[in-house]
Amino acid sequence: MHDVGKIGIPDSILMKSGRLDAHEWELIKTHTLCGERIIAAQSFLPLSGPIQPIVEAVRHHHERYDGSGYPDEMKGNEIPLFARIILIADCYAAMTETRAYHQGKSHEETMTIMNAESGIYSDPELFEAFSKMIENCPLRHRQAATLKEPLHPC
Ligand SMILES: [Fe+2]
Repeated sequence: MHDVGKIGIPDSILMKSGRLDAHEWELIKTHTLCGERIIAAQSFLPLSGPIQPIVEAVRHHHERYDGSGYPDEMKGNEIPLFARIILIADCYAAMTETRAYHQGKSHEETMTIMNAESGIYSDPELFEAFSKMIENCPLRHRQAATLKEPLHPC
């Protein structure tokens, strides 16, 4: 659900195997704002009600802990909690799955990279909790068997 805004991004960009140019990258970044609008528009609940944390998480799921993310360059704990959680899960999935633009990495390689980036990209406390959880997650073992096959294009 956090990437629903990618529906507004051309497949030629989402499926591109090469490096994105500056214009394509700017387009990709709009998926957070597009997703925010889509989720907000689908709700029958007032935006100030229970849907608000979900709308915020969709908008901010690419904010980085050090403030270098998008769309609002939020930093640390000013980034909504659900968005910080999504960033970690999304990062793990993006690195371990084979996609149009890269071969999936092993769990071990992914965790090494994510650990090095903890506190820069991700919330270090949440990453520590994620590290403990993923070690015993049965879904991780099932995923390892399917690494050769793309799960989805983006
Ligand atoms: Fe995203």
